Amino acid sequence: MAALQRVWCHSTLRLLPRLPSHSRVACVTRQFATAKESSLFDPLDTFADRHIGPNDHEVEHMLSKLGYNSMDSFVDAAIPTPIRLSESSVSDQTIPSLSESELFKRAKALASENKPFKSYIGMGYHNAVVPPVILRNITENPAWYTPYTPYQPEIAQGRLESLVNFQTMIMSLTSMHIANASLLDEGTAAAEGMAMAFVSSSSKRSTFVVDKGVLPQTIAVLRTRAKGFGIKLAIGDVSELLGEPSVRSDLCGVLLQYPDVNGQVKDYSTLVESVHAVKGVVVVATDLLALTMLKPPGEWGADIVLGNSARFGVPVGYGGPHGAFFACSEKLKRKMPGRLIGRSRDAMGKLAYRLALQTREQHIRREKATSNICTSQALLANMAAMYAVYHGATGLTRIAQKVHGFTKVLKSQIEDFGYSVDNDVFFDTLTVNASNVQGGAQVVHETASRANINLRKIDDTRVGVTLDESLATADLIKLINIFGSAASASPVSDIQLTEIDKSYIPTNLQRSSEILPHPVFNTHHSETEMLRYIHDLQSKDLSLVHAMVPLGSCTMKLNSTSSMIPLTWPEFNSIHPFAPEEQVQGYRKLLKELEVDLCTITGFAACSLQPNSGASGEYAGLTVIRAYHESRGEAHRNICLIPVSAHGTNPASAVMAGLKVVPIKTHQDGTLDLEDLKAKSEMHKDNLAAFMITYPSTYGVFEDGVQDACKIIHDNGGQVYLDGANLNAQIGLTNPATCGGDVCHLNLHKTFAIPHGGGGPGVGPICVAQHLAPFLPSHPLVKTGGDKAINAIASAPFGSASICVISWAYIKMLGGNGLSHSSKVALLNANYIAHRLSGHYGLRYKNVKGRVAHELLIDLAEFDKSAGLKVMDFAKRLQDYGFHPPTCSWPTSTAMLIEPTESESLDEIDRFCDAMIQIRGEVQQIIDGKQPKENNLLKNAPHPMSVMVLPEDQWERPYSRQEAAYPLPWLYERKFWPTVTRIDDAYGDLNLICDCPSVEEMTS
Ligand SMILES: Cc1ncc(COP(=O)(O)O)c(C=O)c1O
Repeated sequence: MAALQRVWCHSTLRLLPRLPSHSRVACVTRQFATAKESSLFDPLDTFADRHIGPNDHEVEHMLSKLGYNSMDSFVDAAIPTPIRLSESSVSDQTIPSLSESELFKRAKALASENKPFKSYIGMGYHNAVVPPVILRNITENPAWYTPYTPYQPEIAQGRLESLVNFQTMIMSLTSMHIANASLLDEGTAAAEGMAMAFVSSSSKRSTFVVDKGVLPQTIAVLRTRAKGFGIKLAIGDVSELLGEPSVRSDLCGVLLQYPDVNGQVKDYSTLVESVHAVKGVVVVATDLLALTMLKPPGEWGADIVLGNSARFGVPVGYGGPHGAFFACSEKLKRKMPGRLIGRSRDAMGKLAYRLALQTREQHIRREKATSNICTSQALLANMAAMYAVYHGATGLTRIAQKVHGFTKVLKSQIEDFGYSVDNDVFFDTLTVNASNVQGGAQVVHETASRANINLRKIDDTRVGVTLDESLATADLIKLINIFGSAASASPVSDIQLTEIDKSYIPTNLQRSSEILPHPVFNTHHSETEMLRYIHDLQSKDLSLVHAMVPLGSCTMKLNSTSSMIPLTWPEFNSIHPFAPEEQVQGYRKLLKELEVDLCTITGFAACSLQPNSGASGEYAGLTVIRAYHESRGEAHRNICLIPVSAHGTNPASAVMAGLKVVPIKTHQDGTLDLEDLKAKSEMHKDNLAAFMITYPSTYGVFEDGVQDACKIIHDNGGQVYLDGANLNAQIGLTNPATCGGDVCHLNLHKTFAIPHGGGGPGVGPICVAQHLAPFLPSHPLVKTGGDKAINAIASAPFGSASICVISWAYIKMLGGNGLSHSSKVALLNANYIAHRLSGHYGLRYKNVKGRVAHELLIDLAEFDKSAGLKVMDFAKRLQDYGFHPPTCSWPTSTAMLIEPTESESLDEIDRFCDAMIQIRGEVQQIIDGKQPKENNLLKNAPHPMSVMVLPEDQWERPYSRQEAAYPLPWLYERKFWPTVTRIDDAYGDLNLICDCPSVEEMTS
């Protein structure tokens, strides 16, 4: 350790002459930090030391710069006294800490209590085969899993290209006009489809028909979502329902499953015509692998096509995370929810990718938004896209043919044993009638269970079985012999197996169109090529492996390797979400421990891990509040007060939960206008349902009076929803319950160290006070939630269960003391930045004691007037310094919101401040007229290599190449190059193209 320390300092010391003085302090104090006294019996691998950037000496240094002699006196200045907690509430007494090695032992012990049976349950979940080159180089690679949503496209071209591959793959397989870059899961994607059908219906029609063949968990999610929108669900046989005049006259859309839950593949073309005849929207949930062989929904008239892409190389993980896909027709494209990646061009005319149509985002549409999607499932979409790139059209077709071929063999063999199969047209799923077996389906399940196999339980006579890519011939024989044994037949061996020629897909349902003709899907098929493609894309993206990503409100902290490792153990990642409870005891214990710890941290009584994102948590929490009011005979309470500064997902979620949004003003200094809150609460007293508040506020301040605000709401019959996105500022210092909330969501992908995956996955659990616990979400197949539970919020009972392992490990390793120390250092780092930038930039908001919380808002409005510069000019220039820009233009349009987190060291924070200060100097040159307003370092930023090598006669810039690319000395050692120059947003939206270039475009 000491030797390592010397190496680190030696390499940094080489730079010392070029470093500013505070960086030298950091280096020297680091040497002292290891000398801290400890007992011989203490573990050496304590996580807090690895997770928290500044060591004790650096903390002292920062405190002294801010004028404090202790951490306590500093925290007292940042957080109002009335909401401070006692030291013991989140401590090692309430959450004991484990060292990294102790954590692995504990995780192993829990893993051993899970029984990863081979599951052929299907119902939307398959055993995926993750190609090792993807597992090692994407799933387990921080360069892919640590970046944020690609808001800064010039330093995100790699994952943008990969997401375009995902969109292209979906468009090709579904034969639809346009596809987005993933949604949270199949159930919520179907709910988005239903909402789109509803808002697209011109004459306020509100009946949405759902076929009985749709997955039960999808139906449960639809029930929840339909209520908020006032949509009437009609569930049953779709043809019969469409025959009813009352349904047809009020129809906004239908949802079909293709193939359906029992495996049957139906020809829906006539039905589609009849839905279109009454101007209904046809939504189809489908399976990507099946579409390589089946006629795609786009070819038989579907308007929206969606599903789960996880069988393309994403582990089942006890239910998630998985990337849902969503595609639609040309006429609906501007109503499509979620992220859409489009092609545009940079300032030099080069092709570049970017997030398209951002004007649809909730930040702009707020209560007019019909979707609250923010975090999606980018990492999982990237894995699925890479799977298609690796296998290509031919490889995917071979996989599909094998799965289908095995299913045919299974059918033929078990029919020989006396079983019959209910579905005559199928791809990979059979509904087997076991009335030939004495004891019926139960005996088949018992026989399967003895062989460590799960089949789908349908009823007393029928058994469901779904095959997938993971089956080898030996698995197929084992499966056949389970059915054989249950029927008392003699076992078969491989030599008795023969391929079945007979086709079970009629010609009118067979796919004849080509799949994936684009060059990217027909190039990288050897592992060498694939590895290089992945690394080529990765090298274009700036992530936490390069530098701090100080995005305010996003909490981009260390995603430790130790907390990620258990995630890919089979005992955690190959478990079907509907596996019997006795096989998942380890998972259940782990999830329970996480729920208990989250309750300790928030001060609440109960928790649901089901929501798959922060926004989904908001929606869940508000729906719980509505159910609570309803249970008290107050279903009419439908007003939701939301401050104007709130994140856009807040009003969008409120509207989706059927609430009417009333905005609350904030003062000039950013604080909530309590007078306005009081007046509006009293005005809406009889109908007040909820108040949503983010605390500390979106302006980065712990303002006084939060308890008063909550009391006003309670006095007027409302409930308080606390948006917990900023919980990183609170742990052990205050909590949502103490502030006066009734429910909060947490972003585990922020505060609790789940990596952001380049735009997802996320987990947005909700914690609630005792009186709301009975209403927590249920699930149709696995018991969750309270005794008055609302319907499901997500497809899987515990949402993205597998990544909950990361947050569980994070909490266990830090322990209570480490967690609260992390929050204190997060506050300190932000206040230290505010201190260093003061005099250079205007700090927009601070509390009465001059302190910010864990993030700070700097206002750049003055530079628009004095130098013609906008926020984006500063952001793009920061890219030249190798930093990801902070959050731009939110919550105020002329500001940057900076959040360093506790994980960033003093050295890195100083580097960032140096860059910001140097940029301020560049701005001064413009203000002083030494650089022109339209042609300067900021307006032309970023400066990729292609600009740097422009011939001399084309370098029409009043500054040198060195000033452009190496404005500070450390950049010579540590330069990150954006790969394109500034991207033209307007051009991209006007010429919306959201797929990969075709062969013709590539060759023209
Ligand atoms: C304050 C706040 N609330 C809610 C959200 C939504 O969370 P998610 O992106 O996980 O849906 C965010 C996300 O950035 C946020 O900053």
